[in-house]
Amino acid sequence: MVKVTICGAAGGIGQPLSLLMKQSNDIDHLSLFDIANAKGVASDISHINTHSKVTGHNGPQEVKEALENSDIVLVSAGVPRKPGMERDDLFKVNAGIVRDICTSIATYSPNALVCIISNPVNATVVVASEVFKKYGVYNPRKIFGVNTLDLIRSSSFLAELIHADPASIEVPVIGGHNGTTIIPIFSQVESAKKLSEEEIAQITKRVQYAGDEVLKAKEGKGTATLAMAHAGARFALKLVDAVANNVTHTECSYISLLADPEGSKEMERIYGQIGYFAVPIELGKEGIKRIIPIKNISTVEFTMLHHAVIELKASIAQGVQFSEDQQ
Ligand code: NAD
Ligand code: LMR
Repeated sequence: MVKVTICGAAGGIGQPLSLLMKQSNDIDHLSLFDIANAKGVASDISHINTHSKVTGHNGPQEVKEALENSDIVLVSAGVPRKPGMERDDLFKVNAGIVRDICTSIATYSPNALVCIISNPVNATVVVASEVFKKYGVYNPRKIFGVNTLDLIRSSSFLAELIHADPASIEVPVIGGHNGTTIIPIFSQVESAKKLSEEEIAQITKRVQYAGDEVLKAKEGKGTATLAMAHAGARFALKLVDAVANNVTHTECSYISLLADPEGSKEMERIYGQIGYFAVPIELGKEGIKRIIPIKNISTVEFTMLHHAVIELKASIAQGVQFSEDQQ
């Protein structure tokens, strides 16, 4: 029995994400949770003739039945940016939402693999981790900040530039999920080697601010939802395959480096104690198996990483402080 729960299922990301997860025949129970309207989404999606049973649950009074016995929980609950806002401006509201949902996960599904989509990911993953610590069920190998949208954007934008098939290009993206903390490592991609330094700089900047591109195009009606749903499903379906079929996958994710202290030693030797970082990882049914080292990054990437670490440390401190203030 594989149970996947989506929190925020009636939202802009939640609905297409639920639809994409319904395509998987490895999921037995797809549980959709939101403060309202999850039952309607569930009723609609349940008519799709794939394997999983779909249930909808509205509000705190139904959170227990939504979450209990979940193997994987996807959290896209929260407020998206409006024009003129930075992701950090969402922290005040979304930290509280992520705290409440993670409290329920820690209570009703403490062994689940938990994927945090709600922004600002660089800090909400920390808030989530602190909740699990508080409830004595913290396992750093099971909490993921989803930065897969940065990976698919890197593939698409590079493919556009070099006239290649985007599906054939994989770009590791490390650091975090906000502005200059988003660092696509184009030096690892064979087909990017023909690009000039200036072209690499331009495409890196486009990936870093791609969220703004969508925000602007949607003219005040939200941020990325559809590509995000695809990205979230790509990440989550790897976890589903790991849980259902014991298959090992690789992907990047913003994680606690405690998940693999040995694998993060070299990184922390160079950059100091960071705490959380987006890195390539190997995934299994128990979560993170190990961090995959990236070798021979370019000097420019190295410098970007140094700057990213400073911003990340501030976001991590914000997440920890928020949690301490709750005590
Ligand atoms: P949305 O407003 O369309 O949907 C959010 C949903 O969350 C709503 O249905 C709302 O009712 C629900 N919700 C709010 N509080 C809740 C709670 N306590 N419990 C359960 N559900 C709750 O927003 P969206 O466009 O789907 O974006 C959601 C979040 O994802 C935002 O924070 C956004 O910034 C973030 N996001 C992250 C990435 C990424 O790459 N990680 C990409 C895009 C968006
Ligand atoms: C994105 O990268 O599109 C998301 O983080 C949403 C946003 O606020 O830009």
